[in-house]
Amino acid sequence: MSDLQAILQEATATLAATTTVPHLEQTKARFLGKSGSLTEQLKALGKLPPDEKKTAGAAINEVKNQVEALINAAKARILNVELEAKLSAEAIDITLPGRTSGTGGLHPVSRSLERIEALFATMGFSVVDGPEIETDFYNFTALNTPENHPARSMHDTFYIEGSKNLLRTHTSPVQIRHMLGNKPPIRIICPGRVYRCDHDATHSPMFHQLEGLWIDQGISLADLKGTLTQFLNAYFERDNMHIRFRPSFFPFVEPGVEFDMEWENKGGKIKWLEIGGAGILHPAVLKNGGIDPEKYSGFAFGMGLDRLAMLKYGVNDLRLFFDNDIKFLSQFR
Ligand code: PHE
Repeated sequence: MSDLQAILQEATATLAATTTVPHLEQTKARFLGKSGSLTEQLKALGKLPPDEKKTAGAAINEVKNQVEALINAAKARILNVELEAKLSAEAIDITLPGRTSGTGGLHPVSRSLERIEALFATMGFSVVDGPEIETDFYNFTALNTPENHPARSMHDTFYIEGSKNLLRTHTSPVQIRHMLGNKPPIRIICPGRVYRCDHDATHSPMFHQLEGLWIDQGISLADLKGTLTQFLNAYFERDNMHIRFRPSFFPFVEPGVEFDMEWENKGGKIKWLEIGGAGILHPAVLKNGGIDPEKYSGFAFGMGLDRLAMLKYGVNDLRLFFDNDIKFLSQFR
């Protein structure tokens, strides 16, 4: 075998066994470097007689080209293997769900209120707002509860020092505000925050009420009962809700009632649950609202909105609604 064939064979075998770039560089130097075996062959050309030079030179160049091609192929193979190894080492599982910031949701009380407003809208009630900081006049006096009236003590609240203003204790002042600016027929609900000095599992110093007011000619307790029953059936998705009226006292209604609804708790026990106060508007209240009590009558009711949300969602502690614990709230998203 000629020297050239031996070199080509050696280069082929060495390159096939080469697996790293540094090793490849060494191999390259061994054949093509300054004193590489093929370089030596080229140097030796000078000593040959001129007529042999040409063919010998061509043969060396031929082998040199083959070795270079082998080196390039080996390099591509090594780089490819390295790239594959790197890719699998750094692999990311793109099928894993991402970490997003999450979507928000309505607070269960807001969610209940949205439904309640929609249900009352189907009965022709519109939604009216009033201020949370009220005057003594709208919160008490105009509602037939003059200064020193004992009923005020049931509504212990937060007075604003140096003024006749207070945090409203109920949504009833909106009745007066609305009557003064509107003529009957009036059919409104007024949802909102109210404040009292109370704090336990079923009372919080801030809670939500839903006031209802319907004034027209000939309005009676039957209309009140029908409206409440229809609303509760729709809200709790039943068709057989029973409500009961118990005589009670509120200075702004006559007669006055507290109303309970029949409720089956988890153990299947039927209980009466109090959900609000109501009654036929006292003539003095209609007068304070600029409405003639000889011509018009009306009913009003006030319900605990949070209580309705608690029953709907099976929450047993009112305070959970106001702690703003995301773990609790996110269950209602
Ligand atoms: N405002 C009363 C309360 O908060 C409830 C009520 C409203 C009673 C309307 C009668 C009529 O206790």
